Amino acid sequence: MSTKAKFILDKDYVISKIDNRIYGSFIENLGRCIYGGIYDPTDPTADKDGFRQDVIDVVKELNVPMVRLPGGNFVATYMWEDGVGPRDQRPRKPDLAWKCIETNQIGTNEYMDWVNRIGAEAMMTVNVGTRGILDALNLLDYCNREKGTYYSDLRVSHGYKQPHNIKTWAIGNELDGVWQVGQKTPFEHARIARETAKAMKRQDGRIEVVVAGSAGQEYPTFGEWEQTLIQEAHPFIDYLSLHQYYLNVEKDTANFLAKTLAFDDYIKSIGSLIDYMKVKNKSNKDIHISLDEWNVWYHTRRDDMATIRDRGEEWPIAPHLLEEPYNFEDALVAGAMLIALLRNSDRVKIAAYAQLVNVLAPIMTEENGKLWKNTIFYPIYYTSKYGRGTAIQGIIESPKYDSRDFTDVPMLDAVAVLSEDERELVVFAINKSMQDNLTVQCDFRSFGDLRMIEHVALENNDVYALNTLASPNAVLPVQKEVSKDCTEIVLSSLSWNMLRFSIN
Ligand code: AHR
Repeated sequence: MSTKAKFILDKDYVISKIDNRIYGSFIENLGRCIYGGIYDPTDPTADKDGFRQDVIDVVKELNVPMVRLPGGNFVATYMWEDGVGPRDQRPRKPDLAWKCIETNQIGTNEYMDWVNRIGAEAMMTVNVGTRGILDALNLLDYCNREKGTYYSDLRVSHGYKQPHNIKTWAIGNELDGVWQVGQKTPFEHARIARETAKAMKRQDGRIEVVVAGSAGQEYPTFGEWEQTLIQEAHPFIDYLSLHQYYLNVEKDTANFLAKTLAFDDYIKSIGSLIDYMKVKNKSNKDIHISLDEWNVWYHTRRDDMATIRDRGEEWPIAPHLLEEPYNFEDALVAGAMLIALLRNSDRVKIAAYAQLVNVLAPIMTEENGKLWKNTIFYPIYYTSKYGRGTAIQGIIESPKYDSRDFTDVPMLDAVAVLSEDERELVVFAINKSMQDNLTVQCDFRSFGDLRMIEHVALENNDVYALNTLASPNAVLPVQKEVSKDCTEIVLSSLSWNMLRFSIN
């Protein structure tokens, strides 16, 4: 069966120029993300620095502009000094977040080598949970000052003559979480964040600062956390960090797909809080959102967390952890989260899917072996490649459905992007209907004479279909026949789509 929807677009319905950093990602010393993922000197493709070249090649396909590192929860007990200097002298330390041993074979300089290798910039997270302002300043000096101080000269002595010039610094991570070593109350966090940001900006006036928001809407001090933070630290915050992972433990596809409505609300409500605080603080300083951990995460969550909890005295190095086997419906949700990021690109200037390799990741590796792409790779790939330019808000008229937690969920979820050179209009669209194809009547008004040049779709009869090492191509995007008629486009039931039109 087919139902009908309407999608109206006008050049004047501009949301915002898109900040390409919304296609950023995240790497953490967690499981096999770093060791066995990006770095494995024993791998046949390893380059002179031990980085897996096959991983670099596929990461480059994703065109990642910014990488957040090295945590995440890992940063809670991290001492950056352990990860610099001669490798054979670097200490092994317990990592309390993931209950593993950190070998420190990859640290600040190697992160930067790798980030440069993939053509990205870094967002460096500093530990303010168990460390303090001075440690953050020392790391900043190590990274950004050319020479002439103890820490900048130390970097030079480690073989890095040029400073790393890291522009974006993240203060803390999920510090309201009971799982954090160094958990804070809203006020404690607000004060340390304020003083750290103030001091770091005094030391290097070129940097910008992202400050940790609450770990999520479900935590007790959510809202109060952000309000207190902005109350105390408004002049020093450039971006407020938000995190969001979606779960489908109930195996309720319709409800799972509807959860991205809550994602929109989450971003909008934090946007309203920021606006309110501008009024309250009599400030015209804008604070944008850095959604620097987003994804689907539930397949491995319970078991892996139990494994970590029950591990006893065993402290492994880079074990298999959080290696989420993403299925087809997870890819639809990831695609919908990207659509929501574009729809909120006036607020969200930085984002990071968490994570990049092996851990909650689009890219998976076998030890000394092959690499494969998880299902979520594809919407990320296409949105990152073609979702650059100006985001355009569409008006959607769509049939709706009710699910367990949501009412009036539009079957059609869509947003458009006018390319940077203004020669292409790109529509990202999802049909959430489990039964019906959707015939979308497109009214693209002021865009004039359009010609469809590509229609890529991710569709599958089985929501649980997934790609594995043995079967890496079970879920792949397909090239659909391009329709000559740009006014009526059919989206298959349960599908993610990218439609490209040339503007003549
Ligand atoms: O991405 C995995 C973990 O999720 C991160 O370390 C933490 O910040 C979040 O809870």
